[in-house]
Amino acid sequence: SAAEKGGHDYFMLKEIAEQPKAVADTLLGRIDGAGSLRLDEVRIPPHELREVDKVVIVACGTAFHSGMIAKYAIEHWTRLPCETELASEFRYRDPILDHRTLVVAISQSGETMDTLMALRHAREQGAKVLAICNTNGSTIPRESDAVLYTHAGPEVAVASTKAFLTQLVACYLVALYLGQIRGTKWGDEIRTVIRQLSEISGAVEQVLETMEPVRELARSLAGHDTVLFLGRHVGYPVALEGALKLKELAYMHAEGFAAGELKHGPIALIEDGLPVVVVVPSPRGRSLLHDKIVSNIQEIRARGARTIVIAEEGDEAVVPYADHLIRIPITPTLLQPLVSTVPLQVFACELATARGNDVDQPRNLAKSVTVE
Ligand code: AGP
Repeated sequence: SAAEKGGHDYFMLKEIAEQPKAVADTLLGRIDGAGSLRLDEVRIPPHELREVDKVVIVACGTAFHSGMIAKYAIEHWTRLPCETELASEFRYRDPILDHRTLVVAISQSGETMDTLMALRHAREQGAKVLAICNTNGSTIPRESDAVLYTHAGPEVAVASTKAFLTQLVACYLVALYLGQIRGTKWGDEIRTVIRQLSEISGAVEQVLETMEPVRELARSLAGHDTVLFLGRHVGYPVALEGALKLKELAYMHAEGFAAGELKHGPIALIEDGLPVVVVVPSPRGRSLLHDKIVSNIQEIRARGARTIVIAEEGDEAVVPYADHLIRIPITPTLLQPLVSTVPLQVFACELATARGNDVDQPRNLAKSVTVE
């Protein structure tokens, strides 16, 4: 009913709007007065976490995209090697696991069979499993050694939105917590980022308030067949997530690429008028990366692409090459997906609606996939 949807036409719109609160709720009670992380609920004792020598993340779909982003954060802040693998591929390749491996299983529903089978395999090999899950008491957290719950509240729409943002928050918490207890050279940065993370829900809110031009743009593209998404660094999984949302909801051919891969093949797809969404990393810090994506945008535009550029406020270098410019607030580099994903969710939802699709119940899909 309309009441259940909080006055929105679709659950998906309600859940997109709930994201600032979902993000804040997932941080609640996990940062102490001194600005350190308190994750006592993670019932793997610190001395065992200090012995971990490798992290492996398993998940499917949107949860897998959050795991891809987690890899950047975990390797940076903990200096531990981290792999992220599709749960459905994991156990079939005889992965190397032992009691010093920490496996992180990410699942909104806690019932995804591929993810469950991956974690069972990991435990059989002696690995410790930490679940990141949104559903209390579901199978995946019950079968794990420990769980960090995301507090997104129930997610009804098939397309994951607020669960994704809270999975990201949980992944950052795990990365920063491991960094905190293991003590890396990034101690000061970790403390700063914990504080910035505690304030990030305001930035998500700010993005939501500026989405009207994105909706307008989405409606104008309803007649297209293909949209491409490009990103680099943590913007690459965001590009994949933008493409997945568009496939599931708008039934369009949508593909995400690492922008650096363009010249290795995908650039052949660019033709006149093709919409290409580009997620631009912050021009601060890793500036070489930023320069490279600006030249990627120039290259595709020279071949006729219609460029839809998502870039930080104040990033002027992209302006000459953007047919459409979507501004996002300035955030720490690794946290950018918390704000850059939101316009892509709104874009897919609006485009699908313009094509006459039911965004809460897309064809052929179920909310949780309980078969392998
Ligand atoms: C996301 O929009 C999808 N519907 C789907 O990819 C989903 O994220 C995937 O099936 C994993 O589900 P889970 O988080 O409940 O394990």
